[in-house]
Amino acid sequence: MTAQFPAVRPRRLRRSPAMRRMVAGTRLHPADLVLPMFVKEGVDEPQPIGSMPGVFQHTRDSLRKAAHEAAEAGVGGLILFGIPAVKDARGSAADDPEGIVQKAVADLVSDLGDQVVVMTDTCLDEFTDHGHCGVLTPDGEVDNDATLERYAAAAVAQARAGSQVIAPSGMMDGQVGAIRAALDGAGFAHIPIMAYSVKYASAFYGPFRDAAECAPKFGDRNAYQQDPAGPVGEALREVRLDLAEGADAVMVKPALAYLDILRQVRDAVDVPVAAYQVSGEYAMIEAAAANGWVDRDRAIMESLVAIRRAGADTILTYWATEVARRLR
Ligand code: PBG
Repeated sequence: MTAQFPAVRPRRLRRSPAMRRMVAGTRLHPADLVLPMFVKEGVDEPQPIGSMPGVFQHTRDSLRKAAHEAAEAGVGGLILFGIPAVKDARGSAADDPEGIVQKAVADLVSDLGDQVVVMTDTCLDEFTDHGHCGVLTPDGEVDNDATLERYAAAAVAQARAGSQVIAPSGMMDGQVGAIRAALDGAGFAHIPIMAYSVKYASAFYGPFRDAAECAPKFGDRNAYQQDPAGPVGEALREVRLDLAEGADAVMVKPALAYLDILRQVRDAVDVPVAAYQVSGEYAMIEAAAANGWVDRDRAIMESLVAIRRAGADTILTYWATEVARRLR
């Protein structure tokens, strides 16, 4: 009686690094990575962010240096967030031509605008004193339609300063259409919109709110960002609306907890799909690695491969420069 040995042996293709490399189905490339960056007005030194080791609130100078390093490593894009010295109820610094984002984006475009795509996040939360993503009604609700006018003004100010992609992240209804019309009207019909179409009200944004100093002073964002347990069709609906309003690319955010949604979006559309590996995803791996509980480099690469495999063409990640270097 001879033993029944398996005729089919999947392990044959896993035996050596060269074999595994040849048959790999998911590859990362530096140009697929986008680095989110923070620039703070009125500081002389870059400020470390406690909950995001290795990430800084940059000065205009240190931002230029870090952007150079990212471009040198071959990352595809940079996305800029600004922290103004003065905040008010309407987020005036968001569309001030002298505002910190406008100044910093002009620096980056003049330094690097033909080597790397320089994008701007368009929202109000970094600029409002109450920390919400829009202007408020007298009873403290976010006023959707009044906010659209502010987003439109901010997007035009960013485009005037040189931003090469406008990325609205505030989850107001109609934001893509309002921004598209304003950009077209101001002579920026050639500037694409990468819409944060699918954005959940996530606990994983915690560290970002330290980085951008934008935690809401009261309440939460549940009345505008999506409920993690919300109707499954909602994500595709948001994507379809944004495309109808003129979005050129769409985004899913966060990434790792929403890979199912990312895959559905990827299968449903014919535009580029981005995924944002957010601050909390970064912080979790950094914290576990700092304790010696996970292998940092492997955990980073595995998380990025998963996001890519789920369908992301572009990945926004705070590890963009480091990973781009490793991929070269
Ligand atoms: C809103 C915005 C947020 C992030 C990107 N754009 C914060 C929020 O919605 O509270 C989060 C990014 C991250 O956590 O890394 N302007």
